[in-house]
Amino acid sequence: MRSRLILGIESSCDETSASIVRDGREALSNVVASQLIHADYGGVVPELASREHLRAITPVVREAMHRAGVQYSNLDAIAVTEGPGLAGALLVGITFAKALAFAADKPLIAVNHLEGHIHAVLMDAEASFADASPLLALVVSGGHTHLYLATKSGNTWHYRNVGKTLDDAAGEAYDKVAKLLGLPYPGGPWMDALAAHGDPKAVPFTFAQIKTKATGNTAPKLSREAALEQNEDPTRFDLSFSGIKTAVRRYTELHHMQPRIEARAAALRSSGLALGKPTNPETLAQTLELFDPETLNLIASFQASVTGYLTRTAFAAAEHYGAQALLVTGGVAANTELRRRITAEATRRNLPIAFPTIALSTDNAAMIAAAAFPKLQTQTFAPDTLEPTPQLRLG
Ligand code: KG4
Ligand code: ZN
Repeated sequence: MRSRLILGIESSCDETSASIVRDGREALSNVVASQLIHADYGGVVPELASREHLRAITPVVREAMHRAGVQYSNLDAIAVTEGPGLAGALLVGITFAKALAFAADKPLIAVNHLEGHIHAVLMDAEASFADASPLLALVVSGGHTHLYLATKSGNTWHYRNVGKTLDDAAGEAYDKVAKLLGLPYPGGPWMDALAAHGDPKAVPFTFAQIKTKATGNTAPKLSREAALEQNEDPTRFDLSFSGIKTAVRRYTELHHMQPRIEARAAALRSSGLALGKPTNPETLAQTLELFDPETLNLIASFQASVTGYLTRTAFAAAEHYGAQALLVTGGVAANTELRRRITAEATRRNLPIAFPTIALSTDNAAMIAAAAFPKLQTQTFAPDTLEPTPQLRLG
């Protein structure tokens, strides 16, 4: 069969991205323009995000077409993120995609951003997961923390939400705690890099178990078949991250860390280190010189606690619902400790797992084009009245 090309466009938060993906698997290009402007504000400013998307969208799409060596006439469809995300940011991508679909006479496909994150993993792993159903997907990013049971019938994917955060997303908790400690935005990668240099057992943070109608740990265990049949099983694996944020703040107050935090934040800014990447060994080495063991221990303990909690919850849900494989995706899936813990536990349980490549962990358009491929196969197209749905849910 002839190969099919989809142009994906993503603009739900602070990345403007376009990508050409062949047959839902192979990214011929994946251009991502990250909006650095938000770093000055310590978080994403919606109005600025829309303006930056407007500036970037045309060059980013052109560059993606150019790098893939593709003409608009070669495309089979144009896919765009419908939601969830920032209304104004989504609107830029959707308006552009609609205009292009109209002008080039191509079908338009609407994609849920969360489904996109799941397909960032399936792009590489679907072949090895072919017989594994249901799959459990842990989506952990700056805006989302969800657990989905995913099954495929024919070319259609079905998702069921079996857990979500009741307050902050995991990445948001990382970013807020990082800000509290005077680290640059987004703080997740900084916390991850610094955590390796502290004692993870120094501060014993605890996570309270969420009590919903039936909690994951107390409900009777179901066989895989029974779980699948009982689609109505109410057992949920919800999470909460607001408590640990408060605990870190209290710790810094109790240990009079504020003057050190302020001095460090100023030094990171004036030295230009704040603009660097913590994955660069030289940047990390110079940053480490600004840290005392107590703060590094706090960071390591936070990282151990959060990644342990995510790992425990994901495997409890996988076991309860008889998942045949686990995939972890979203910005926080880049976290080294989360990868290490999940890999170790999966090996112990003999459960297949997969993560996206680091490039596909954070927001990108390749995952949007990949998620659109099954919809192209089933001819599930969006109307030309498509509008952003900022609160769009999956499952
Ligand atoms: O998926 P993403 O690019 O955007 C959203 O849809 O939110 O995820 C960005 C989030 C940020 O909160 C960032 O701090 C976090 O992912 N993140 C990390 C790491 N790399 C990115 N958090 C912890 N450890 C990391 N290595
Ligand atoms: Zn995302």
